[in-house]
Amino acid sequence: MPKIKIEGGHQLTGTITVSGAKNSVVALIPAAILCDEIVTISNVPNITDVDDLEKILLHLNAKIDRDKEELVIDSSKIENKEITQELSKKLRASYYFMGALLGRFKHVEMYFPGGCAIGARPINLHLKGFEALGAKVIEEDNHFIIKADKLKGNNIYLDFPSVGATINIMLAAVKAKGKTVIDNAAQEPEIVNVATYLNNMGAKIKGAGTSTITIIGVRHLHKCYHEVIPDRIEAGTYLIIAALLGKNLKIDNMIPSHLEALIAKLTESGVDMEIGLDNIIVNKVGKYKAIDIKTLVYPGFPTDLQQIITTFLTQCKGKSIVEETIYENRFQNLKELNKMGAKTKVKKDNRKAIIKGVTKLKGANVTATDLRGGASLLVAALIANGTTTIDNISYILRGYDKIIEKLTEVGAKIELI
Ligand code: UD1
Repeated sequence: MPKIKIEGGHQLTGTITVSGAKNSVVALIPAAILCDEIVTISNVPNITDVDDLEKILLHLNAKIDRDKEELVIDSSKIENKEITQELSKKLRASYYFMGALLGRFKHVEMYFPGGCAIGARPINLHLKGFEALGAKVIEEDNHFIIKADKLKGNNIYLDFPSVGATINIMLAAVKAKGKTVIDNAAQEPEIVNVATYLNNMGAKIKGAGTSTITIIGVRHLHKCYHEVIPDRIEAGTYLIIAALLGKNLKIDNMIPSHLEALIAKLTESGVDMEIGLDNIIVNKVGKYKAIDIKTLVYPGFPTDLQQIITTFLTQCKGKSIVEETIYENRFQNLKELNKMGAKTKVKKDNRKAIIKGVTKLKGANVTATDLRGGASLLVAALIANGTTTIDNISYILRGYDKIIEKLTEVGAKIELI
């Protein structure tokens, strides 16, 4: 696994441009196979999750043309083959091929998806949704056969507003006969982006972005051109970095309204932000106060920023409490952060952590435990005294487009080794 070496303490100034959203594009790519014409997706981030989805498309015999940030997918001649365990396990979002292949062929064979080990992460709600549409699920040793004679719209209530289940059910339902209603649906902006894309192809989806989504099945989806929305988690990561090291640091090409919870929390702590239409300019204030964070589904505070803001909290005066309500195991980064001098403690139930600030962080050899945990260490390394080496950097490259280049351009000292 590659490592990165970071020399901490450098002020950052200039502009960081946010790329397309990982959690949106990883659904848009599998969804392209619902259309048997050509689909063009723009603002595609250069992250390894996209590379892995392309491998699955090629395995299914789709044609792909990728030029910089534009991805053209022709799935007119795809074959419905089993997605091997190796390919299924490469990433969490491989599960979107379940809904997409089921929608296209009424039959899918693949394995349990991969993804960061941050909790149990079952897919029971996805499967219940497919069954409600008339599919039969045969599961054995993490291998799934999901098939249907025909898919028929139904009313589906999600016990939890899962992002993955909401999108997967939408994918399976767009070509089902009749009307599907998903209640207690997730409301994340990525869901709206996927619904807009499918509607551009001729689907009939209403209510995406609210807790009730209605889908009227159509027979055919036609070609379309679609742009990936900016990545709110990437933007949030850079906002946090800017609060710690920014001098007129502009985070550009972002949608501030997608980050209201983070902006409110940073403001509460004392961060100085100038909020524009599609950018935020941040200047380090330095004297921040402790705040409490509780992760929730959108529009609440995103779990994907929890580990990253924890590093920020080490620089806030007083005791901050972080409560993780989405995943059971998302504090693994704290052990590594403590190696750098942070004073954090996870409570017994693994759901709350206490962060004491202000602590001076110092360079150390640390290991990324997962994607966002890795990003939290990177933020720590940028503010630490001395040099930090982060191992397992591949986790970070799964979700952050050109992160080394973007940070270097505004003044950070990072080297890939
Ligand atoms: C997606 C995002 C991930 C983000 C998460 C929550 C992608 C590829 N990943 O993950 O970055 O952290 O949303 O914002 O978009 N659950 C069940 N049964 C299910 C599905 C989910 O119990 O069938 C539970 C999970 O265990 C978890 C919670 O619901 O506790 C949230 O999961 P979900 O919203 O589905 O997250 P993902 O789609 O995995």
